[in-house]
Amino acid sequence: MLTKQEIIDILKDDTNNEKLFLKADKLRQEHVGDEVHLRGLIEFSNICKCQCKYCGLRAPNKEVTRYRIYEDDIISYARNAADMGYKTMVLQSGEDEYFTVEKMVKIIKEIKKLGVALTLSIGEKSYDEYKAYKDAGADRYLIRIETTNPDLYAKMHPNMDFNKRIKCLYDIKSLGYETGTGCLVGLPGQTIEDLAQDILFFKEIDADMVGIGPLITHPQTPLKDENNGDFWLALKVMALTRIILPDINIPATTAMETLNPNGRIIALKSGANVVMPNVTSSEYRKKYEIYPNKICIHEEPDKCQNCISAKIKSIGRTIADNQGQSKHFLSK
Ligand code: SAM
Ligand code: SF4
Ligand code: FES
Repeated sequence: MLTKQEIIDILKDDTNNEKLFLKADKLRQEHVGDEVHLRGLIEFSNICKCQCKYCGLRAPNKEVTRYRIYEDDIISYARNAADMGYKTMVLQSGEDEYFTVEKMVKIIKEIKKLGVALTLSIGEKSYDEYKAYKDAGADRYLIRIETTNPDLYAKMHPNMDFNKRIKCLYDIKSLGYETGTGCLVGLPGQTIEDLAQDILFFKEIDADMVGIGPLITHPQTPLKDENNGDFWLALKVMALTRIILPDINIPATTAMETLNPNGRIIALKSGANVVMPNVTSSEYRKKYEIYPNKICIHEEPDKCQNCISAKIKSIGRTIADNQGQSKHFLSK
């Protein structure tokens, strides 16, 4: 276990980065093996009532073309992805109130009939809603804390409440979900100390999955004149997360590949063991523009599956043929 000061020192000093990435890679191999888990990502609605300052889908952005994929089509994308061999689906969206508990429960039950694991990433809900989704069969839930600095959190999230976000995570955990969280790296005003605290928070909450993404500034948001997050700093936060929680699942995030053309492979060699290719058609991908220059917006699902599978095999790793539950979750 590293202390906060040790984490800060590692984050501030770039002379030993290679050693850090190698260490994270070794721990990844020892604890979760060489398999890479592919999750079929369905971004089913870009309609959002929130105003997160960094996100292109925020409600005040009038320039984004909004879309919603309706229940039957969501299920059919999931069916296609299952036919392609995906063993986990991830349903992600803005906070879109069209999707009531009843509608989500119906979707969850249908997708679970495909024999796949199901992850939800649909934002803040009440305990009862999370319970209804769990009872319907959802296995995992992703909700990033984004930053553990409460003041910065308040600045970045108008009308949202830091304590509510934390409560969501504890509700999810207590309901028996595999619990995923994570943070953004490079928020304006965010310090190295804040990032060290984020890493310690992942440990404190005993996360089963952690996704780290560099901020990519969106021209239609209040952060348009700020700098992007730093790819290597985000990679260091990810590698340290692997060191602190060696048996969790860690995705090589799309945002990393957006900032670095080989970003996902570099991440897979620095502690990551999951990739989340998009399995919807390109018609929707370009509209789910949380940040600009997102990868894969013109590709179709089979192209992405072939592309990422070839890259993974080229570094001597294998594609898992199982649901890839978090080993950390299983060991509790
Ligand atoms: N609405 C749900 C939520 O916020 O939890 C799920 C969808 S949201 C688009 C998924 C993640 O996208 C967020 O947790 C956030 O970290 C990330 N994100 C949003 N805008 C971003 C940006 N400009 N750069 C990098 N990541 C971003
Ligand atoms: Fe909505 Fe999620 Fe974007 Fe925030 S990050 S504006 S909740 S889609
Ligand atoms: Fe989509 Fe490479 S993963 S084109």
